[in-house]
Amino acid sequence: MPDSGAMTDAVPDIPYLAQLVREQMPARLAHVARVRGLAPVAPDAAFTYCDLGCGPGFTAAAVAALHPQATVHAVDVQPGHAESARALARAGGLANLHVHTADFRDLPALPAFDVIALHGVWSWIDAATRDAVAAFLADHLRDGGYAYVSYNALPGAAASAPVRRLLQRHAAALPDTMDPAVKARRALAAVQDLRDQGGWFADNPVAARAVDDLATRDPAYVAHEFLGGTWEPFYHDTVAAEMARAGLAFAADAEPALNHTDAVLPDAALDGLKAAPDPGAVELHKDFLLSRGFRRDVYGRAPAALDEAARTEALLGAPYHLTVDRAAFTEQCHVGRVTLTLRGPAFDLLLDGLEQGTARPADFPRVQGLDAEARRAVATAVDFLVARGQAELALEPARPTRAAGRALAFRPALNRTLLDAAFRRGGAEQAAAISPVTGDAVTVPRAHGEALLRAADGEAVEADTLAPYLRLGVLDDA
Ligand SMILES: C[S@@+](CC[C@H](N)C(=O)[O-])C[C@H]1O[C@@H](n2cnc3c(N)ncnc32)[C@H](O)[C@@H]1O
Repeated sequence: MPDSGAMTDAVPDIPYLAQLVREQMPARLAHVARVRGLAPVAPDAAFTYCDLGCGPGFTAAAVAALHPQATVHAVDVQPGHAESARALARAGGLANLHVHTADFRDLPALPAFDVIALHGVWSWIDAATRDAVAAFLADHLRDGGYAYVSYNALPGAAASAPVRRLLQRHAAALPDTMDPAVKARRALAAVQDLRDQGGWFADNPVAARAVDDLATRDPAYVAHEFLGGTWEPFYHDTVAAEMARAGLAFAADAEPALNHTDAVLPDAALDGLKAAPDPGAVELHKDFLLSRGFRRDVYGRAPAALDEAARTEALLGAPYHLTVDRAAFTEQCHVGRVTLTLRGPAFDLLLDGLEQGTARPADFPRVQGLDAEARRAVATAVDFLVARGQAELALEPARPTRAAGRALAFRPALNRTLLDAAFRRGGAEQAAAISPVTGDAVTVPRAHGEALLRAADGEAVEADTLAPYLRLGVLDDA
């Protein structure tokens, strides 16, 4: 175990995944607030951001690198995690990232925050620690600020409880000294054997699928997910009630599509929901109907509400970029269990404009002449394009893509660290870099990552490979 003593008993002593959690990025959080008609924390403002349980620190470092005007604090009890986050801050030259090795029950003095993020934490800490975190949210989240809280959700995660029980029994029989990743792999193999014998697993195919899913995961994930001392899935309304005691109310789902209750649920289900007494009950019903086992909630403290016209203008006034070529744009999309068709003049207008590069729809001449109803239709179209993943929020305009004759460097500098760690020091097949254009992660396959590293070292690299990364600002003039 790490040297921080008894308080870390519940946390497996194995580095968590080197992942970037896109749903807790400020641009994403701002978008879902706007979609819900709430004033966002503006991603280009000088906001304060706290990542509680930052793991190895990739997300916190990405937030600090993409928002140099922001102040970011990252906290984790595992000294190895905090050290990894500090190393990213050093390598990326991130003077605005402050890392603390601390337990949530004994946090250092920290400032007030506009955003507090807890990813992969709430279901894995005990009740006393949840109380300490809730007290921190009560004391440290500013009015108008948002907390991102993800957790294993009921009823979708219900079948994982017996699977965890089995994994824990098998892991407990293995030597204490065994590497947690090996333990996780061995325990999972034993559970897979049992699964293959049918019985309860045959009666509960969702549990059998949960075992199959775990087999595809990194053993570090399995260890953190199931071999720690605490794992408790929650109904949405239980978490919402705990947040209410901290003065926060449910604001949005961090997965853009899932904010559209009327689009993600079949009509028959919507009729039933009309009788639901409050927004919390709607979310709970959605969880039953979508059968999802993981939620990413956004809670707000006294957020300012936008009226319909202000919401429309907030959505039209933000910059977006297309994530697919116009030719690859698909009109049919699956959101939840429902198929939507994205078609009509508002979509055409948007696609025509965004095809030219990152832009604010409000700036399109064809939008400027529209009446209020037509503007609302374009705002809805933007909302659905983002929900579908065919457009993303942006922070700034796309860049020139011509590489010839330019000396190139990674922007932010953290991108070199991310790609170097994945491809030169590690054997990953793909890695996440960050884009100052989108304010979000960009998936880079190995062949491209190696090419980008060579380009930044001054070698000539095929222009077609570089173009998308230049457009996204991953590389820029040295
Ligand atoms: C599942 S990981 C998530 C890491 C990171 N948020 C991410 O998504 O990559 C949960 C993190 O919370 C930290 N953690 C758990 N209990 C804690 C506590 N009581 N105090 C501080 N950190 C804790 C763990 O060390 C771990 O890094």
